[in-house]
Amino acid sequence: MPTLNWIGKEAVTNHDKEVPFKLLKKVKTASAGDNSQNLIIHGDNLEALKALMPYYVGQVKCIYIDPPYNTGNEGWIYNDKVNSPKIKQWLGKVVGRESEDLTRHDKWLCMMHPRLKLLRDLLAEDGAIFVSIDDNEQHNLRSLLNEIFEEKNFVTNIIWQKKYSPQNDAKYFSDMHDFIVVYAKHKNKGAEKHGWIRNLISRTERQNARYKNPDNDPRGPWKPADLSVKTYSKAYDYPITTPSGRVVNPPNGRSWSTSKENFEAWRNDNRVWFGKNGKNVPSVKIYLSEVQGGTVPLSIWLRDEVGDNQEAKQEIKELLGTENFPFDTPKPVRLIKRILQLTTNEDSLVIDSFAGSGTTGHAVLDLNKEDGGNRKFIMVEMEDKVAKDITAERVKRAIKKYGFKEGFEYCELDKPLFNEHGQIEDTCDFRQFATYIYFTETQTNIDPKKIDENYIGELGTTEYYLLYKGKNKNDLNKSFLKKIKKTENKKVIYADRCLIDDETLAKHNVAFKQIPYEVKVY
Ligand SMILES: C[S@@+](CC[C@H](N)C(=O)[O-])C[C@H]1O[C@@H](n2cnc3c(N)ncnc32)[C@H](O)[C@@H]1O
Repeated sequence: MPTLNWIGKEAVTNHDKEVPFKLLKKVKTASAGDNSQNLIIHGDNLEALKALMPYYVGQVKCIYIDPPYNTGNEGWIYNDKVNSPKIKQWLGKVVGRESEDLTRHDKWLCMMHPRLKLLRDLLAEDGAIFVSIDDNEQHNLRSLLNEIFEEKNFVTNIIWQKKYSPQNDAKYFSDMHDFIVVYAKHKNKGAEKHGWIRNLISRTERQNARYKNPDNDPRGPWKPADLSVKTYSKAYDYPITTPSGRVVNPPNGRSWSTSKENFEAWRNDNRVWFGKNGKNVPSVKIYLSEVQGGTVPLSIWLRDEVGDNQEAKQEIKELLGTENFPFDTPKPVRLIKRILQLTTNEDSLVIDSFAGSGTTGHAVLDLNKEDGGNRKFIMVEMEDKVAKDITAERVKRAIKKYGFKEGFEYCELDKPLFNEHGQIEDTCDFRQFATYIYFTETQTNIDPKKIDENYIGELGTTEYYLLYKGKNKNDLNKSFLKKIKKTENKKVIYADRCLIDDETLAKHNVAFKQIPYEVKVY
């Protein structure tokens, strides 16, 4: 497979591994409701995604992101180029002096690569990622996703009609659409092997209205479908006599879609329609009751089905008022709801790590209200002026206005787990540390319900314990050894000091790991 090269690639290829693991700090005053599992995180998504890993690795069913398109339009509250001061600073640090020579495409690729890698790790085996983009970076994004998600997992490149009015002063073409690029984590595995399955789209009232019942068929409304097909088969090319006595054959070069025998069975079952007068070329009836499961999604999404930028602006205006109008290109709730319908079930976890005005959170709550679902969202927004006052505020106001039941927790990125002296940061509590330790040991997420004092969980035939109750209190001693489970399993015990001799440890099948030196840096 051809691969894309750009200046700075080498520096960022494994950068996701070097990002320091930071703790998350809840900010109660900016949150809504109690104990919600929805999260809005203020911070750079690179650090935020890393901080989420011990909690959500491999658990996210749907990722929707709307990263900067790299248009060069810097007039808005956030930079649509990658020249945001925070990203510039980050590039300088990661790519080094070379970063001064980067073109805007190099910078964009440097910014996206490590973030997409972390997103892929968070995605469940049956999950999929949807990325909004336009022609500025669509081609680069495809190459990047081919590398990170593999080409075989490319699903489609949706065209979304983002506006209605043509731009008559456009120099070349009036740009009417964006893309939404879709990749599955595993596309071709099938349900039994946990690959991605796309749902059907629920039928709209307009689609349903096409089904009528002119002959009062007791099976309910139906729609006529062509009985002839393009693929010619001699056996299916036979004359049909209509109720009016007219003899009809398939149109030139075509044949009927079924055998003569089957056709007669359909006719006897009143499944064939010859028009009101009984004279027309026959069609076969498709009953509404048989297609209620939904329709197959198309790769073109029109504004009257899913909304456009204008609709999105109106939605934000209604909630935040004009004075807070944040973005030129927000996404409408209906667009994100369509994505959620296609790829989530009722208790899926959804991440949007370029949250902007928080449309994804709004869409998740809206769809939950509509279908009684219990989906959860995590959104990340970096800009100081946006995260609390726009992302969180919009969702708060939507909850109030539309009576959504759930709330969210607002978090700031806190200090790194390891401070500059290599010690565990004081603000890290037992649960946070246990979650981290369990993840670095097992690469899976802890089950908080299983934590029982110092026991933090097990995997296979190994149990994990953590002594972490404040300074100088974390000794692995004989009295602690008496308290651990009496099983044959290997026991990995994290503590500050070990006061037991090696022989006794071996007798109890215990491996001692000293905090902080033997805590793996993730
Ligand atoms: C195009 S906007 C998203 C708009 C959003 N879909 C909506 O409907 O409002 C992109 C957002 O990503 C944010 N962003 C850019 N880089 C980021 C980063 N590294 N971490 C977190 N947020 C970032 C920007 O501040 C901006 O708000």
